[in-house]
Amino acid sequence: MGAQPTWGGRFAEEPDARAARFTASVDVDRRLGPQDVAGSIAHVRMLAARGILPSDEASVLVAALERIAREIEEGRFAWDPSREDVHMNVEARLAQLVGSDLAGKLHTARSRNDQVATDLRLWTREACAGTARRIDALLSVLHARATETVDILLPGYTHLQRAQPVRLAHHLLAWAEMLERDRGRLRDAARRMNECPLGSGALAGTGFPLDRDATAQALGFDRPTANSLDAVADRDFAVEAVAALACLAVHLSRVAEELVLWSSREFGFLRLADAWCTGSSMMPQKRNPDVAELVRGKCGRVVGDLVALLVLLKGLPLAYNRDLQEDKPPLFDAFDTVDACLEVLAGAMETAHFDAERMHAALAEGHLEATDLADWLAGRGVPFRQAHHVVGRLVARAEAEGRRLAELPLETLRAEHPAFDATVYDALRPEALVERRDGFGGPSRRRVLEALDALGRRLASRDWP
Ligand code: ARG
Repeated sequence: MGAQPTWGGRFAEEPDARAARFTASVDVDRRLGPQDVAGSIAHVRMLAARGILPSDEASVLVAALERIAREIEEGRFAWDPSREDVHMNVEARLAQLVGSDLAGKLHTARSRNDQVATDLRLWTREACAGTARRIDALLSVLHARATETVDILLPGYTHLQRAQPVRLAHHLLAWAEMLERDRGRLRDAARRMNECPLGSGALAGTGFPLDRDATAQALGFDRPTANSLDAVADRDFAVEAVAALACLAVHLSRVAEELVLWSSREFGFLRLADAWCTGSSMMPQKRNPDVAELVRGKCGRVVGDLVALLVLLKGLPLAYNRDLQEDKPPLFDAFDTVDACLEVLAGAMETAHFDAERMHAALAEGHLEATDLADWLAGRGVPFRQAHHVVGRLVARAEAEGRRLAELPLETLRAEHPAFDATVYDALRPEALVERRDGFGGPSRRRVLEALDALGRRLASRDWP
């Protein structure tokens, strides 16, 4: 371990190599490089504006920090694993560029505690925006696919039993609703986290006359955080973001499960493009939906990331504790995982082939018109409970004869209830069943087109990110 730690002054010996390795985090937190430099630039400018740092020195520091930012962005920055973390790495490079005396002034009126809290809020804010963009990309695919398939009907299910016919577009729009709520949660989280910890110091602020509003504003925060102890100890923003991601991952797993089911031979509703399927090393005939299965499976990681964060924070006394360094792996992993899932689902959905005939054929079995047959009677004054009973007997009869309800002759219907007449058959066509469900939020063509239009307008007029 060559590098003397920045806090080395009061120590008589160098850290044990094992302790140094154990406490180092640069492998993980180097991802915060751009945010770390941005925070330092804002800090230096503010120090100069407040006369805490001479402005010629501040200019040299800012120019060097900007150069470091480019080095990081272009992948040329030489990360030194013997420098504990991202902050030490940036400062060490700064010392190479401007000399250690001047570089040493950067940390005036700042601690790594308020620094890392600031970096992480900046990172998480951007990550929320990035995920929101990916959600929108998937929503756009769903919108396009729903628009082009608006006339395809398929069974809707309860208990995974065929229940009532709906439009495929209505089903795709149900997924869109789930995703839009997740987007809203990310947005809420991004809004609430938008406060700047800089100036909180190690825990108790600083004696220098900082301009906390200036650094907050320079970094795009709405305001400085209101309590220095809380500011360095708080990771709620990470919890909230990852909670939103966990919910999103659960939704994606539900979507993925339906893709798995639908692409099975048993359902046959959907065929994923070859490019989104995988084969079996043993069974030459297999076309497996591994992408969808992995999306379903990766949900476990994201939920695990949320649990890891919550347990990390549980019982931690104020203010900063080194435990908090463990916030980054689950935070980064949750975003990486969900972003990857969103990307592949958009690709798979864009190219999937919907088998309209298989979907339509599935409407023929399962007596999906039973509710409407009962409603038909109820509409003619028969109490619904009684109508339900009548149709139940008709279903049993149809079942026994191996026919659909709509194939039962009128005499058979009449034998169960005299109110039946020949117009009932028209009312039992799948299209009629769906069109009748014309209330707001329903699957009728008009309502689905309305919903598509509303989604299209929302997508076109986003004000965030
Ligand atoms: N790497 C540390 C973290 O991620 C930075 C803050 C270190 N602060 C300290 N007092 N040791 O939390």
